[in-house]
Amino acid sequence: MAPDMREVDAVIQRRLTSDVAMINQIAHYIIGAGGKRIRPMLVLLFSSALGFSGRERYELAATVEFIHTATLLHDDVVDESALRRGRQTANARFGNAASVLVGDFVYSRAFQMMVSVNSMRVLEVLADATNVIAEGEVLQLMNMHDPDLPVDDYLRVIRFKTAKLFEASARLGAVLADSAPELEESSAAYGRSLGTAFQLVDDLLDYEGATAQLGKNVGDDLREGKPTLPLLLAMERGTAAQRDVIRHAIQHGEVARLSEIVQIVRDTGALEATRAAARAEADKASRCLDLLRPSAHRVALLELCVRSVERSS
Ligand code: IPE
Ligand code: IPE
Ligand code: MG
Ligand code: MG
Repeated sequence: MAPDMREVDAVIQRRLTSDVAMINQIAHYIIGAGGKRIRPMLVLLFSSALGFSGRERYELAATVEFIHTATLLHDDVVDESALRRGRQTANARFGNAASVLVGDFVYSRAFQMMVSVNSMRVLEVLADATNVIAEGEVLQLMNMHDPDLPVDDYLRVIRFKTAKLFEASARLGAVLADSAPELEESSAAYGRSLGTAFQLVDDLLDYEGATAQLGKNVGDDLREGKPTLPLLLAMERGTAAQRDVIRHAIQHGEVARLSEIVQIVRDTGALEATRAAARAEADKASRCLDLLRPSAHRVALLELCVRSVERSS
């Protein structure tokens, strides 16, 4: 996909400009740090796998990356995170106000771009997705510091805040290709499951990962008292004493006891169980590809399922 991804990068650079100096500075700061670019890759892989090769796919691929970038600018303010993509976060470097406002700029630029492809269906898909992402972030805020959060409520948050944009990206590929409804739905279902697996692993890496590899600080979720699956499962499986340690940490955000908590999460098998849940979702995603004709793009989409689960960055 390298040549196609270079086209996407060219659109990103061209679309990121503003006459306002601070917007250019901050927007290039976060975009220039890179990122895995998985969501634009989904737009390209599905549109190609389904037989569409028009230039609109580059515009929409860049659009979903902008929406993602805007949510990161806002998310790092909300999460008070200090490190992203191996750099100081924009909020740490330029302040919360600048991050929120430039996030709004990037968001609304994404809307200008999606209008340019001239399809009401595309607008509908992306308007719905951004709305659901916002709901997910607010739901998560409401769940903060709650050690009794049901697993289903946790899963709802990750479906909204993360899986929805993966779903929209995959679906857009099918919409561009004007695919039959069952193909569009199976593409969307792939994105939903892959995105769920991806966030499960993100939550796992917050305990198991290495800051240097992730480019994000591990322990951020614990510091904030986020009840993610590794902790919920550790409470389910642990002794009364272990459960108390984790309950207390969720309620008070005790990052000082991170290494003790990582040990509990590991000893109770909660890390492995989280990885297994991610693997099950990724397998579900793979099965959604059954309807696609064999192609290099389909192979890449299968590969993405494996890598999303095994990744360490
Ligand atoms: C980070 O997404 C936010 C989550 C949904 C976990 P990515 O892991 O795709 O971030 P970048 O774009 O590669 O930095
Ligand atoms: C991802 O959530 C943010 C969005 C999808 C909007 P997280 O807060 O878990 O992501 P990281 O860990 O900061 O990248
Ligand atoms: Mg965050
Ligand atoms: Mg996270």
